[in-house]
Amino acid sequence: MAEKTQKIGIFDSGLGGTTVLKEMIKSLPNEDYIYYGDNGNFPYGSGKTKNELQKLTERILDFFVKNNCKLVIVACNTASTAAIDYLREKFSLPIIGIVEAGVKIASKNTKNKNIAVISTKFTADSHGYKNKAKMLDSELNVKEIACIEFAQMIESGWDTFDNRKELLNKYLSEIPKNTDTLVLGCTHYPLIRKDIEKNIKIKVVDPAVEIVERATQTLSSLNLLNDKKEKGRIIFFVTGETYHFKPTAEKFLGKEIEIYRIPK
Ligand code: DGL
Repeated sequence: MAEKTQKIGIFDSGLGGTTVLKEMIKSLPNEDYIYYGDNGNFPYGSGKTKNELQKLTERILDFFVKNNCKLVIVACNTASTAAIDYLREKFSLPIIGIVEAGVKIASKNTKNKNIAVISTKFTADSHGYKNKAKMLDSELNVKEIACIEFAQMIESGWDTFDNRKELLNKYLSEIPKNTDTLVLGCTHYPLIRKDIEKNIKIKVVDPAVEIVERATQTLSSLNLLNDKKEKGRIIFFVTGETYHFKPTAEKFLGKEIEIYRIPK
């Protein structure tokens, strides 16, 4: 039997999932969190097969189960695309996926049902969003655009790349004219949201907002919301470097973090 005092596990291939964690802390500050950044195996979004991604994410779920989690958030669109069904079959705890949340928030926001999604190559090539849209809102027209270099650039320091504007223009110019809503279909992208918004006039939506709603609903329906009064503890585990990860995550979250390196 799960208990209210257990933790929420959130994972990504690196820094991206901190954009989801930030939204979660805002709404559910009294929960305890484990953030797992698999930056030792970064990137997930190019050069890995579905099978490899399933195996990597299965290890992360094992880690969460061993570390007493009551709910898991797959804060990585690539991992959600490759492995959400696989993980749900293998594990009995509730697992919330970001692609389903992304389709939902897009369908809530679009007026004309024409949406575009920017994502990693894996998510776009596997039609992660098109496939979920078929199941959740079959009227949505989805244009999927792979921004191949973005996650890597953001992970290692977006501002240090002189060609970032040029690349932004290149990919955002692929958005069809009739599109009214753009989904940030990679959890790294909210970190450069301002730069994206500078370049386009349509509505930009972040699935993280919807994730929070789903997580809250799920925990509440299972009577698993932590009702302690004090703020929760957040522990970070990463499988790669911390020298860049730690300051970047701290800057984004606006506070110091507790972080440990574990084998990849
Ligand atoms: N943040 C991940 C996502 O949402 C992808 C980054 C990567 O390529 O590893 O898809």
